[in-house]
Amino acid sequence: MSASLQARSLVYLPNMAITAKNILVLLGHPDTDTFSGNVADHYQAGAEDAGHIVERVNIGDLNFDPILHKGYKEIQALEPDLLTLQDKFRWADHVVIIYPNWWVTMPAILKGLFDRFWLPGFAFNFNKETKRIDQHLKDKTGRVIVISGTHTAFQTWWNYGDFTNEIQHGILGFAGIKTKVKTLGPCEKVDGFCRESWLKDIEKLGQKAC
Ligand SMILES: Cc1cc2nc3c(=O)[nH]c(=O)nc-3n(C[C@H](O)[C@H](O)[C@H](O)COP(=O)(O)O)c2cc1C
Repeated sequence: MSASLQARSLVYLPNMAITAKNILVLLGHPDTDTFSGNVADHYQAGAEDAGHIVERVNIGDLNFDPILHKGYKEIQALEPDLLTLQDKFRWADHVVIIYPNWWVTMPAILKGLFDRFWLPGFAFNFNKETKRIDQHLKDKTGRVIVISGTHTAFQTWWNYGDFTNEIQHGILGFAGIKTKVKTLGPCEKVDGFCRESWLKDIEKLGQKAC
């Protein structure tokens, strides 16, 4: 784990005192040189400006096999990058996951990441006595930002149904993370002015750590 994974501290800005949060920003696009990467940069810049402590992870930099070959039948040893990522999730008060809408869902590599590291023992457990799920990440909040290229969120929902439920509730919520979703798009159809105004909004979200 990097030295910047520090304890929470009180930060004084000119007009306010905020409790600095530990924020993990995970870019789920394999390429950083993209609008999705730009969104992640602006969230991070806003959060750091406001005094929060940010750990940035780009999925394209992680070294891991995205296929869970035997499901939960056999234990598949975690690569060092996945162990480190689990530590960063434990450390974070707030986790932010940013990804492009690819075929009405997340990129396969991000789904593969969750298959591999979002495991019993880390994120949750099936409690044999209560027959319920014990959620291990209940103390955290989450923010998901999904960027679509050709459709608005409404058009996607209207044509194909819900496309953020799986990450918001099925994955993060399953482990107890209370998550809000923001959708942007269609980024391939709008002008630079519109994209800039979205990026300003994202920066404000980062400042507020929400
Ligand atoms: C494989 C693939 C699938 C895509 N599927 C959709 C889709 O279902 N709906 C949509 O609005 N845009 C879709 N797009 C467009 C991306 O959402 C868009 O390129 C991305 O959100 C923003 O661009 P970025 O790659 O610069 O971050 C797709 C793009 C790719 C490469």
